Amino acid sequence: MTPIEKLLLENKAWSSEIKGDDPEYFERLSHLQTPEFLWIGCSDSRVPADRITGTQPGEIFVHRNIANLVIHTDVNLLSVLDFAVNHLKVNHVIVCGHYGCGGVKAAMTNHDFKYVLNMWLRNIKDVYRLYTKELDAISDIDKRADRLVELNVKEQVLHLAKTSIIQRAWKNDRRPQLHGWVYGLRDGLIKPIFDMDAGSAIDPLYQYDDL
Ligand code: CO
Repeated sequence: MTPIEKLLLENKAWSSEIKGDDPEYFERLSHLQTPEFLWIGCSDSRVPADRITGTQPGEIFVHRNIANLVIHTDVNLLSVLDFAVNHLKVNHVIVCGHYGCGGVKAAMTNHDFKYVLNMWLRNIKDVYRLYTKELDAISDIDKRADRLVELNVKEQVLHLAKTSIIQRAWKNDRRPQLHGWVYGLRDGLIKPIFDMDAGSAIDPLYQYDDL
């Protein structure tokens, strides 16, 4: 059996197991989803949003990319954010990074990863530059990377607050709350790093006055 055939076989087994437990399960979910959370996580295969939070299909709307970045020209991410906030009406947006993130570690090197990857990782280098003093003072390279993972999550949450999508929802609806978390690959535990309630103060330079 090829790996692909195995996936399809496992899918059949999973489907009949669910139907055995709850015959209406798929019928019910096919009609609507009412997730309360938008998850922006790393594409890393070891960080599955639903598994580590014990949530079921229908509960978390998910966007993933390398190193869980919120980039204000990323139409993919902004579309997900717009849909989740304005149509699904999520109450929480979670940016979840993880210790040992390969994307973050790669951005700390001077290696040329060529073309598109260099472009993507540049955004993480820009986070490093904001905290150069703090990060350069950490001599252990793994600890330094872990701290950059935390700071990166914080910066991505701040990036969310700079969007008109979030500012408008805060003004009109007093939601969503923004959360920056880091997941530990070694212990499976999530550490909350940084939160922003609806209406939190942001740098005035990024505030829109005509929302
Ligand atoms: Co990662």
